[in-house]
Amino acid sequence: VRPRVWVSQPLFGDIVGRLREDFDVVETTQVGKHPPAEIATALSSSVGALVTLNDPIGAAEVANAPRLRAIANVGVGYNNLDVPALTAAGIVVTNTPDLLTETTADFGFALMMAAARRITEAERWLRDGQWRQWSFETMLGVDLHASTLGILGMGRIGQGIARRAAGFGMRVRYHNRSPLPAEIERECHAEYVDFDTLLTSADHLVLVLPYSRAVHHLIDAGALAKMKPTATLTNIARGGIVDEDALADALAGGRLAAAGLDVYEGEPAVNPRLLALRNVVLTPHIASGSLATRRAMVSLAVDNLIAALGRGPQAGHPPTPVNADALAAAGKPGLKR
Ligand code: GLV
Ligand code: GLV
Repeated sequence: VRPRVWVSQPLFGDIVGRLREDFDVVETTQVGKHPPAEIATALSSSVGALVTLNDPIGAAEVANAPRLRAIANVGVGYNNLDVPALTAAGIVVTNTPDLLTETTADFGFALMMAAARRITEAERWLRDGQWRQWSFETMLGVDLHASTLGILGMGRIGQGIARRAAGFGMRVRYHNRSPLPAEIERECHAEYVDFDTLLTSADHLVLVLPYSRAVHHLIDAGALAKMKPTATLTNIARGGIVDEDALADALAGGRLAAAGLDVYEGEPAVNPRLLALRNVVLTPHIASGSLATRRAMVSLAVDNLIAALGRGPQAGHPPTPVNADALAAAGKPGLKR
């Protein structure tokens, strides 16, 4: 029998089909989250798995998976995976960076614009047949041009948003764990500021930092209180970075003009207080969702899985490993060096 790999979600069948050359592929046909026990059972008979942010995997899920050697995450963020626990179990983890950068930056910009100019709110109003009520003061928004864009987290996606902002005549400020090299700052027309300055000076604040426990509810009531009441907040990173109740309070109380959210703390559940507000644009975690990019992400994840499992032209050298150094440091065979 050929070794088994588990595909946790329906993913482009023609791309995932490449795994069949070497493996017995078990494809899940049901969308959505699996209970942890179901994940553990699927992994127990697998050498590898292709998973998404819908699939939380840690020590408990791999405890009875003695043959499991690789998990390929379809996504750049991998906070669904307990990487230290998987490293300790000798499991290679990979992700899909870079190829979603521009698509995700496009979407971040679109969401920010939709929030600032009230595009989805205005469409609902039109569809509700309210146009006869139109006045000169209908759906007044806040400008992007000549405003200050604040970017929290200046990785590749943040830099992509900064480059777009230059075309809109925005002034760009950012905060990051450390400032970028001067050359990249110049190229992005971006100026490093401390966190408080970012909060107080941004007319539009976009969150693009990776999630970790250290940034849980970084945008809380205190942070929101420092923002301008005319400002917008856009989150395309991870829901847990924002205290959603504090955000709902600020939006309802007129202490923040609008928000654009693609990610939520309890996905796929959305805080009912946010659902009830008019001045927030809500999308279902689709920032990387262009057809070309989602296909490229699955393709890279498949390449990663095949290589991490020692097959194919890149055997032992998956293109984008997450824990190669950690595996080596832990003395795990994992990958070829
Ligand atoms: C999506 O959120 C990703 O991390 O790719
Ligand atoms: C994160 O990895 C990013 O590309 O911003």
